[in-house]
Amino acid sequence: MWTSVLIVLMLIIQVILLCLFMLIMYLLVRGIFGVPFVRSNKVFSKAMMELAGVKPGEVVVDFGSGDGAIIIEAAKDFGAKGIGFEYLRALVLYAKACAMFAGVSKHVQFRRENFLSGATLPKADVISSYLFPEVNAKLEPLLIRDYPSGTRVVSRTFLFPTLPLKASKVVGKETVYLYQIP
Ligand SMILES: C[S@@+](CC[C@H](N)C(=O)[O-])C[C@H]1O[C@@H](n2cnc3c(N)ncnc32)[C@H](O)[C@@H]1O
Repeated sequence: MWTSVLIVLMLIIQVILLCLFMLIMYLLVRGIFGVPFVRSNKVFSKAMMELAGVKPGEVVVDFGSGDGAIIIEAAKDFGAKGIGFEYLRALVLYAKACAMFAGVSKHVQFRRENFLSGATLPKADVISSYLFPEVNAKLEPLLIRDYPSGTRVVSRTFLFPTLPLKASKVVGKETVYLYQIP
């Protein structure tokens, strides 16, 4: 009887230790490598552009543009111009190739830059982000500094700390948020 209780207790302790180990590894990887690349598929990129009310000729800037999914969607289906900031060279090259295949190369730019390291932020009507909350928190003061009141900011899943929220939309199991620069 006591032996089986002891075995169950040891199993529980092992599971807790394993969970703790996985949590520490996750936090380490996240701390070292920053925001991982996860692309917004068509459902998300379209929902974000719709929520932001992107119109033909407007400029959309995606901070952390990955393979360019959002910028390419903005140019292809909404007639916008797009600029993506991405610090991983391979993703920038891939995004440029995807833009070429999508026939929107003339309307988009991808800059291999860390937008948190003193990059000059281009003019924009709509800003888009799919970044962790702590990165949004670092980006937010730059947006408030450089963009005029009323500029729309659309974010997938993760919140900005103080920007006024104007609307949100549930997409699948996630939510996309629309803010405005105050
Ligand atoms: C979650 S992915 C989103 C990609 C794209 N926006 C989308 O929704 O499909 C975040 C991207 O931001 C990039 N990133 C994170 N922090 C960055 C920074 N400070 N400067 C430039 N790129 C960054 C990462 O390399 C990654 O590709």
